[in-house]
Amino acid sequence: MESNELRRIYLQFFKEKNHAIIPSASIMPDDDPTVLFTTAGMHPLQVYLMGQPHPAGNRLANCQKCLRTGDIDDVGDATHLTFFEMLGNWSLGDYFKKEAITMSWEFLTDTRWLGLDPEKISVTVFEGDEEVPRDEESANYWREVGIPDDRIHYLDRSENWWGPAGETGPCGPDTEMFYDTGKNPCSETCRPGCNCGKFFEIWNDVFMSYNKKADGTYEKLKQHNVDTGMGIERTVAVLNGMQSVFEIDSNAPLVEKVMKLARIKEPMNEEQQRAIRIIVDHIKAATFILADDKHLPPSNLGQGYVLRRLIRRTIRQGNLLNIKQQFLPELAYFVINFYKETYPELERNKEFIIENFTQEEDKFSKALRRGLRKFNKILKEKETITAEDAFLLFTSFGFPLEITTELATEQGITINLEVFKEEFEHHRDLSRKATAGTFQSGLADHSERTTRLHTATHLLQQALREILGDHIEQKGSNITPERTRFDFNHPKNLSMEELKKIEDIVNQKIKEALPVYKEIMTPQEAKEQGALGFFEDRYEGKVSVYSVDSFSKEICTGPHVTNTQEIGNFRIQKQKNIGTGLMRIRATVD
Ligand code: SER
Repeated sequence: MESNELRRIYLQFFKEKNHAIIPSASIMPDDDPTVLFTTAGMHPLQVYLMGQPHPAGNRLANCQKCLRTGDIDDVGDATHLTFFEMLGNWSLGDYFKKEAITMSWEFLTDTRWLGLDPEKISVTVFEGDEEVPRDEESANYWREVGIPDDRIHYLDRSENWWGPAGETGPCGPDTEMFYDTGKNPCSETCRPGCNCGKFFEIWNDVFMSYNKKADGTYEKLKQHNVDTGMGIERTVAVLNGMQSVFEIDSNAPLVEKVMKLARIKEPMNEEQQRAIRIIVDHIKAATFILADDKHLPPSNLGQGYVLRRLIRRTIRQGNLLNIKQQFLPELAYFVINFYKETYPELERNKEFIIENFTQEEDKFSKALRRGLRKFNKILKEKETITAEDAFLLFTSFGFPLEITTELATEQGITINLEVFKEEFEHHRDLSRKATAGTFQSGLADHSERTTRLHTATHLLQQALREILGDHIEQKGSNITPERTRFDFNHPKNLSMEELKKIEDIVNQKIKEALPVYKEIMTPQEAKEQGALGFFEDRYEGKVSVYSVDSFSKEICTGPHVTNTQEIGNFRIQKQKNIGTGLMRIRATVD
């Protein structure tokens, strides 16, 4: 059974059961600011699960492209993936537990469909707690289809509850279906839900009749919904008796390609296997992000930053495998060709995908090579790498601390992060002395108008990045109660159209009444989250990071308004080319 075949018959089955087949939604959610990527098939359907009527009816099914970065560090083992496809069927206030369970059983066991051996299937149901009762009803329907009691397990909320996808929204108890691979149990307590590989989870039916509210409590939804999810990669692996998701038809050819590029022959060692798997998973994830019609390039912010991390991790693993030539475009072409019929956006945005892989690989490979050379030189001379060296690599070579740490660990060397931090503080003190008095974020007066202008300046920077590209960086800023002055790297005057677009974006964000909030974190964390700002200069214990909802994130001392609505109308007054590749914009708020 191949991926395309499983997708086809699943949708066929639910079509016969009167479900409308809907297309996969974007991998980047359009209107959920609490998460960066679509993590499940139900995610784009949340408003309908909450009660809004869906134009295609109240029985739906589809195949959704999904991205989950929560387990990114586990990618490399037999089952973890960041990118995967999820098959799902939904009842929006239509059928409930009985029909959902009966249909799942029919699809899994009937020979017209998957025809799995019923004896090998076991299930789990919610055991209940103070808030939601034990799901005896689902257990009974499983008994009715013929599953004996010893293959029905009652588990707690950590196992048998799903959702919400973000912080709030529809959720509920679930019942999960497992396939016994025939492996020996790992212990006496081995049961479905155990990770040893004996039981493979293949399907999850969630009974969504609750809404999780912002205060953490649950309320009953007006309607009973069903949300189910079957991961294609895992299910295809199970159906073919394979040990890992990297053996299936959508991954195996990529594994082979990477082996060829790296001139690796079987049997390979564990490190090679791990590196290959990371490359295979990440190249798919990155290709699907780039394939989105939103045309999001790698950047240092939000989704763009996740994309950049995926690409850079891929390049680093390629380097570990000694792949010398450029290799991302070649792998991306495979992904595009393999999936383009199901996801036409891959073909549509092919040029954008390849162009971005090429550019990012050019850029990062160089930095990686330079940093690696220096790293190896130091290692050879001193036979160790100290925190001071890591600091030098970071400031002079732009070599990320994570990579230095990773490389050092491979050599059995531990870098003292405390000392690294001290180095930074020392450096910061020096630069603070040098700029004493002028460093207060360019803020001379904390009156209400300057506060409004200050937040407007963050919006302006982000708007500039959206229109001109994410190479735009703040090179200087000065705010008085009358106006904000913002300098940035751009070689020529902006067109009237560009200026207008930028002004419009800022005013749009003001109109959206977005919350502005402050978080305290380490510079490293700020950097990882894609915050803009001067990391070197501000390396101290903690920094404050201001976010305008999911639109902008900057290291900054503030102060800021608490909601963009307070800013008022934003107006660009003039621009000026101040030479050496710098532009200056003067703007105000009314
Ligand atoms: N939302 C559930 C899951 O992701 C079922 O679709 O498993």
